[in-house]
Amino acid sequence: MQLHINYYVLLISLCLAFYPDHGVAVADATYWRKPGVRLVNGAGGGKQHKVHTVGGCTLLCLGLTPASCRSVNYHSGSKTCEVNDKADGDFDGVGLVADDAWDYLYTELAPLASCSAWQQISSTSGIYPVDPDGAGAVSVFNVHCNMSSSPATAIFHHDQESRTHVDGYKDPQSYSISLSYGQSMEQIAAYLDRDGINCSQYMKYECKGSVILKSDTIYSAWYDRRGQQAPFWAGGDPSGAMGNCACSRDATCEDADMNCNCDIEDNEWRSDEGVITESSYLPITRVTFGDTGGSEEGYHTIGPLVCEG
Ligand SMILES: *[C@@H]1O[C@H](CO)[C@@H](O)[C@H](O)[C@H]1NC(C)=O
Ligand SMILES: *[C@@H]1O[C@H](CO)[C@@H](O)[C@H](O)[C@H]1NC(C)=O
Repeated sequence: MQLHINYYVLLISLCLAFYPDHGVAVADATYWRKPGVRLVNGAGGGKQHKVHTVGGCTLLCLGLTPASCRSVNYHSGSKTCEVNDKADGDFDGVGLVADDAWDYLYTELAPLASCSAWQQISSTSGIYPVDPDGAGAVSVFNVHCNMSSSPATAIFHHDQESRTHVDGYKDPQSYSISLSYGQSMEQIAAYLDRDGINCSQYMKYECKGSVILKSDTIYSAWYDRRGQQAPFWAGGDPSGAMGNCACSRDATCEDADMNCNCDIEDNEWRSDEGVITESSYLPITRVTFGDTGGSEEGYHTIGPLVCEG
């Protein structure tokens, strides 16, 4: 039998159907609707879901694990959609079959800007495609979204997150490691520089006789997104004393005359830790340490970059 397939291209603002109270579009999606046909070999486990409108099928598809849902079959009589892990055109063997009760929908989403935009569609944490600058120069990239927090957070992991020993590096900043993120600096910057977003990155240095600053010399430093040495330690005050730490900012240093606990340098285990929240410096791209060897040593711990919104 010859199939006669009509292609309808529809641009819809899905949120108006799903989130009538919000009044802003969370997703503009285009779907191609082929009435009277159904994709029979692509149904993802035959999973069926009730929806309110045909647009809800598209939303559902996007909100499930985004990488796996490629299309849906819509049953207008029972307002049911059936999720496919394939789309018309990328399957083998038997695909679309005539079936008057069903319509086949293939969806393409205008990529959402952020994890919090995705959160309005999906509550499942995982990897999501984002396009923070829309039509700007930065193309779509993947980021890990934590949907358990409110608003959702984007987590940019790097390759130096485990607690690492520093020993045997005497000279200032003679130990140096660069951080490599899963995204490019342009992509991360595009995400960070959006209005209303709050980003932070945690760092800790556990020290035994190993300083941050001594005699106006910076022994331990971190470098910002432009590769510039930051003038303050994690949690410190950007406009405070050179190399000042979080304990200086909130006046909790174990020696009130020092700007960091590590600068006490008395061979006791001490630590300086804090959260960098000044977005213009983020993310951390490199860290350096020194003043270790003999009985002096340290451990650094550098968290992922985390952005709320
Ligand atoms: C996700 O967010 C929740 C709530 O804020 C938090 O408890 C959890 O640790 C986060 N998960 C990750 C992987 O960061
Ligand atoms: C960012 O932080 C400010 C101040 O704490 C807060 O008012 C705002 O809601 C936060 N925005 C997001 C997206 O978390």
